[in-house]
Amino acid sequence: MGQFATPPQLALEIAHATKNLFSSSDKVRFLDPAFGTGAFYGALLKIFPAQQIDWALGYEVDPHYGTAAKSLWSSANLQLELKDFTQAQPPSENSSKANILICNPPYVRHHHLSPDVKKRLRKITYQTTGIQLSGLSGLYCYFLLLTHKWLADDGVACWLIPGEFMDVAYGRQVKEYLLSNVDLIRVHRFNPSGSKFDDALVSSAVLWFRKPAQHNNQQKAQFSFGDSLELPDVVKSINLSSLSSKQKWSKLTAAPKNRIETGDEKEASLRFSDLFEIKRGIATGANKFFILTPEQAQNFDLPDSFLTPILPSPRFVSADEIQADSNGLPVIEKRLFLLNCALPEQVIRREQPALWKYLQSGIEQNIHNRYLCRHRNPWYTQDKRAPAPLLCTYMGRNEQPFRFIFNHSQAITANVYLMLYPKDVLQRYINEDASLMREIWKLIRQIEPNNFIAEGRVYGGGLHKLEPRELSNVSIESIRNVLPDLSLNQTRQMSLF
Ligand SMILES: C[S@@+](CC[C@H](N)C(=O)[O-])C[C@H]1O[C@@H](n2cnc3c(N)ncnc32)[C@H](O)[C@@H]1O
Repeated sequence: MGQFATPPQLALEIAHATKNLFSSSDKVRFLDPAFGTGAFYGALLKIFPAQQIDWALGYEVDPHYGTAAKSLWSSANLQLELKDFTQAQPPSENSSKANILICNPPYVRHHHLSPDVKKRLRKITYQTTGIQLSGLSGLYCYFLLLTHKWLADDGVACWLIPGEFMDVAYGRQVKEYLLSNVDLIRVHRFNPSGSKFDDALVSSAVLWFRKPAQHNNQQKAQFSFGDSLELPDVVKSINLSSLSSKQKWSKLTAAPKNRIETGDEKEASLRFSDLFEIKRGIATGANKFFILTPEQAQNFDLPDSFLTPILPSPRFVSADEIQADSNGLPVIEKRLFLLNCALPEQVIRREQPALWKYLQSGIEQNIHNRYLCRHRNPWYTQDKRAPAPLLCTYMGRNEQPFRFIFNHSQAITANVYLMLYPKDVLQRYINEDASLMREIWKLIRQIEPNNFIAEGRVYGGGLHKLEPRELSNVSIESIRNVLPDLSLNQTRQMSLF
């Protein structure tokens, strides 16, 4: 149910900052649509005098929390509904709507929402705001948009949500809502390495906006970053008319060392995409079935011709250079093979009895009905990938999250690596001087990690990720020195064809 309680100190900090946006004489009408045990209600009672609170309303779907909260606040002036908020009817009168909403909504990722629930939520959020949320949106996005009709004109809303909405694709419609339907006041991004929720794999952000009677798009909003709401490390006042929902908002408050290039600098500098084709490694659909140790392959008597060497996960590859033996196999401790056969079933049945038997065991385990397998023909076939000389481990923590591995072997990789293939323009240089690839690998390893971090995305607990498109965008200007007479125009024009 996406349950992560707000630490009381943080709830208090958030409630204080929200109070500062509220006109002091007004009576408070408070709503928390994902009440839990009432972290925000508790904070509200601490900072507003009781006589200033007109009413308070909470929704909580989980009776474990709801009944505990009911008894905890039994003597308070609180209406707590033990219901699914997304099914509740908003009030129609402005005076019955909340003028302060504070919420830490459930963190339920989209793949845990059933298709029916998703369909219903998408429909009502669209009816409520005119915005069609992406199917990849987590439940918190629906909560955010659904409360639009619960908030009074001039009411202030404050949301503690995963900061990833600022950068990921599904966040675009959330940003659209913040830019077009309400007046955004402030967006604070917590420092992901000091995540406020140790147990949630999300970095947190807090947003404040006002629901205006009439949308005013001339204003500025404050973007801040750091561990504290009161004393952030970075604060920037940003003109909202210059912001777009397509931008990565986390970059607006990137720490100074993550300096972001201007548009012109970006145009002029050499990027990964100029020299490399970047692909994610293959998604097998069922690693346990398709990836085998040499002993398993031998036990099942699987023919070598259908076994492609594949690297284990980066944590089993300690060196950043992988040598090959005389057969092109990687010289590493944990050797693995991908079962890779595109022959039609009837041919396998006739000519490859051992492989046929192994595939039948897959059918018995229902592997053929797994999502990826179901969408392949035949179900056991794998995407074609040639081995790549350079690999990038695109998920990692700490200050140096990404590794670049120089691969001499014929092993391909699963999707825990990005595979970097030299484009023609680079391959021509390598053909003339085979040692160049090593030079390039060394130079790439010298690139300041922040250049990668700034292009990628970050999750709570400091987990950094870099998608192929994001790596493509990173500058590799230093490599120009080993590529005499390289013309950028030439490489970019070539890639158009
Ligand atoms: C992230 S927790 C936050 C709890 C509390 N507001 C706090 O800040 O500590 C989200 C809460 O929403 C509740 N919840 C999940 N789905 C809900 C729904 N559809 N309607 C109402 N509450 C829901 C969960 O049970 C959980 O208590």
